[in-house]
Amino acid sequence: MATYRAPRGTRDLLPEERALFERLMGIGSELATRYGYRPFETPLFEQAAVFERGIGETTDVVEKELFRIAPRTEEAESWALRPEWTAGIVRAYVQHGMQTWPQPVKLAISGPIFRYDRPQAGRYRQFWQFDVEAIGDPGPAIDAEIVELGLRFYREAGVEGVEVLLNSIGDPACRPAYVETLTDYYRRHAAALPPVERNRLERNVLRLLDSKDPAMAELNEAAPRISDHLCGACNAHLESVQAHLTALDVPFRVEPAVVRGLDYYTRTAFEYYVAGREGQQQALGGGGRYDGLVQLLGGRPTPGIGFALGLDRVALVLAEQGSISAAEDGPVAVVVGADPDDTVIRLRIATQLRATGLRVRADLGRRKLGRQLQAAGKDGAHFAVILGDELNAGQVQVRDLLAGTQRVVALDDLARELARADASHRHG
Ligand code: HAM
Repeated sequence: MATYRAPRGTRDLLPEERALFERLMGIGSELATRYGYRPFETPLFEQAAVFERGIGETTDVVEKELFRIAPRTEEAESWALRPEWTAGIVRAYVQHGMQTWPQPVKLAISGPIFRYDRPQAGRYRQFWQFDVEAIGDPGPAIDAEIVELGLRFYREAGVEGVEVLLNSIGDPACRPAYVETLTDYYRRHAAALPPVERNRLERNVLRLLDSKDPAMAELNEAAPRISDHLCGACNAHLESVQAHLTALDVPFRVEPAVVRGLDYYTRTAFEYYVAGREGQQQALGGGGRYDGLVQLLGGRPTPGIGFALGLDRVALVLAEQGSISAAEDGPVAVVVGADPDDTVIRLRIATQLRATGLRVRADLGRRKLGRQLQAAGKDGAHFAVILGDELNAGQVQVRDLLAGTQRVVALDDLARELARADASHRHG
């Protein structure tokens, strides 16, 4: 057993899994560009206050899951690793005066996120999110654009059966009265509440609605619904989002239990799930509108909306659905040789081929030629470039490892020949 291990709740992405993440992030950034969302990056850590204020002091994410960085001196600022992208992006929007840019400002980013969550399958302390934000557009059309973009990500990634659950959680005009009604309701049933939920009741009652505790199912089913308490403007917004989604042929279901875990949300809230997935009902992704967040973090009142998709959960579902394709690119060629002392020439030829853009490995070991060829095959290489006596005449043997054929090629033609043969093989 190894002495040192990756910290609990984190894991190493070995090359095959890393290649899958690379592919998922590539799909994300390509889609973002296609939809007009620009690449962007905020730091891995921020002043803790950005998250405390932005996400809300009484949310699980801030109260229990924030990775705080121990200050190095007494007067040092209090920092925390980012537990999501949104608050940091909005902090940057305010800091860089992005309200003077053409609105909305549409940004996209993928990268690691940190939450001190209780580790289990699909729940990690370091995980990856693909995130998009559109700041400066009150919607509702852009709400539909964003929901559709998320769904397209799953389609292009090859995840089957993703469902969109949609809700409105009201705004400052109608939510306070609803929260009061809901609090009254649960107070009347306080005796039936599990301790965790009773504790939440006075501080963040909306969260009770999406409790996964089976003891809450019946109570939640009969709870007052936000849809019966929305003001006219929120109702009209929700209806219009639905009309836009229908026009885009995006299937969705209105689900009153989608209340989201972060405090900044107003109106539109949505989550993506794989339909009928057994076991823990974990969202693949989620997002919503946050019309008060820019102001909360010191900017002018500015509406915004976005989502974050959990890439680790996408990877899990792809594995469950058996649709992970080998995403790694093997070398086009491996340079091998019979003479164990010819590493200078092996390396030089490999370097020349790489300079032309080809993926090439040089076998620099002292093992026998046969073993080198075997290893090249295992690597998934298409060709072996075999160095032998022909070198004196400026030539090498090129073996097509897939076809089992071999021929002599002049060194001067080698790069061109390999590139041409590999391209024609790959395009059938
Ligand atoms: P969230 O619902 O907290 O939203 O997280 C989004 C997604 O990140 C989840 O649906 C899940 O797939 C993934 N995720 C969350 N926690 C974990 C974990 N511990 N392990 C693995 N995956 C996890 C947000 O983060 C918002 N910032 C989304 C947003 C953007 N809203 C507006 N703009």
